[in-house]
Amino acid sequence: MSDKPAIDLLTVMKPSPLWAPQLAARFRVHERLHLTDEAAFAEVAPRVRAIAASGDSRVDAALIARLPALELISVMGVGYDGVAVAAAKARGIVVTHTPDVLNDDVADLALGLMLCAARQLPQADRHVRSGDWEAKGNMPLARKMSGARLGLVGIGRIGQAIAQRALAFGMQVGYTARSARPQLPYAFHASVAALAAHSDFLVLITPGGAGTRHLVDAEVLQALGKGRGEGFLINVARGSVVDEPALIDALERGVIAGAGLDVFEDEPRVPERLRDLPQVVLTPHIGSATGATRQAMADLAQANLVAHFEGRPLPTPVPECRGA
Ligand code: 8YV
Repeated sequence: MSDKPAIDLLTVMKPSPLWAPQLAARFRVHERLHLTDEAAFAEVAPRVRAIAASGDSRVDAALIARLPALELISVMGVGYDGVAVAAAKARGIVVTHTPDVLNDDVADLALGLMLCAARQLPQADRHVRSGDWEAKGNMPLARKMSGARLGLVGIGRIGQAIAQRALAFGMQVGYTARSARPQLPYAFHASVAALAAHSDFLVLITPGGAGTRHLVDAEVLQALGKGRGEGFLINVARGSVVDEPALIDALERGVIAGAGLDVFEDEPRVPERLRDLPQVVLTPHIGSATGATRQAMADLAQANLVAHFEGRPLPTPVPECRGA
């Protein structure tokens, strides 16, 4: 009798050392075969019953169509905008993700980017290391964060974690979302532009995908700048939420004061014009990138797979698949 795990699983993400061993223990894993080996993929595709993905993986309708036995797509990430959920649902395929376990880390990073952008911490570090402090003297004065106005685009679980932290900085918190949440003690604004006009920091923490594509455009950036080159844009959501060329243009022309960006339209490619701007702080999509949180995400992604194949209720299906 073979002791090989009986269920075929396709991974569509770069191998995660925190998840890969768990996957290998339970499944017959086919590592990114659809990208690397068409003949081997064609041989395995009819047997693939599950996909393991990350928050930034693409699982499009064409890939789903090639997997007739597919039952479950488990995403190690809260965002699943790369997954064609409608195509999956139409076939009765369930999609799961890993919400909540990363709320603290993403909220921490948002506050970190706000502080870095306003107080110019990376620039200050460079000022000391380069010897400029001694050679050229003090840096220009920075902007104050405590007491400033925070505008949140998205007030889900991570948005609320950011708001709580902002309260400790004495910030006034406003938000925009599809509808007002009267139970929350924050000011609702009906549009992103209206929120931007009332914000010193506009923080994006809304799902990606077609519904939020280029939500932040030239008009919103104009509102954030208030005609005086004010306002910081912070993006810990998805690069697609921002019209990146419009943002670069606004930064180059001094329409807004600066930006803190963890996500980009075409990762890992970041436009050189953006990298050249001194008033911008850039991080390489590290919102959830701590050891503890990535382990919790891997464990939850695995728990969804195991529950499905043991016939137990799924811990965290995506909202579209709840009750399925
Ligand atoms: C990572 C993310 O990109 O959770 C998300 O939606 O974007 C990130 O945490 C990734 O999913 C890690 O696997």
